[in-house]
Amino acid sequence: MSEHSHAVPIPPGIQVAPSILAADFGALREQVATVIDAGARLIHVDVMDGHFVEPISVGAPVIEALAPQVHAAGGLLEAHLMVERPERHIEAIVAAGAQSLTLHAEATPQLALAIHRAREAGVGVGVAINPGTPAAAIEEVRADVDVALCMTVNPGWGGQPFIARSPEKIARLRALIGPDVALEVDGGIDVRSAPICAQAGASVFVAGAAIFAAPDPGAAYRQLVEALAGAGAPPRR
Ligand code: DX5
Ligand code: ZN
Repeated sequence: MSEHSHAVPIPPGIQVAPSILAADFGALREQVATVIDAGARLIHVDVMDGHFVEPISVGAPVIEALAPQVHAAGGLLEAHLMVERPERHIEAIVAAGAQSLTLHAEATPQLALAIHRAREAGVGVGVAINPGTPAAAIEEVRADVDVALCMTVNPGWGGQPFIARSPEKIARLRALIGPDVALEVDGGIDVRSAPICAQAGASVFVAGAAIFAAPDPGAAYRQLVEALAGAGAPPRR
């Protein structure tokens, strides 16, 4: 369990986190309002720099635009930083209103320092790993994070198919982090893959296309929650 549990913003229980990457950016507030009204309280923002991943997405200004809306609903805004040297961006992303930062283990030779700096900034901290990175890459920092994020596609794009062998890795990660750290899956999550990930030990389910590419994002959010309700939660104390 994290020694910084007082700062944990993402609890270890089952949660669906809509990813705005697949939303209509011309109507972002309305799109976020739709999933908040449906019950979502964790909003996932993908920050991409064109280096760590090929595309460029959004950064602090978009987080700043959404933060008041998410906070007013009692929600949490999570920034998934797919950027090189994330430690250089912590201050700006936290100032914009993100309450949890997820950093990639592959993005910096100074992972422990980056996590430390995010802690110092007073936010929740997650560590993410790509499909090609072994679960053991988070071993030395697992006690310092609130969330481990397992990419279930190669990062950079929404709407990709779920990598079928991910559940084995999710189970290895759950064994590594223990029952009290949130385990997030991101990429290709839908009503079919989410319950499989839950069985393997995942607790937080990021979904972009499955929610925002659906004709009714609020209904799609609720369908995911319902699919997980019958899936069997990961082991808890
Ligand atoms: C991918 C991003 C994901 C993305 C998931 O690099 O980290 O958060 O939005 O999109 P879907 O759910 O469409 O696979
Ligand atoms: Zn993401």
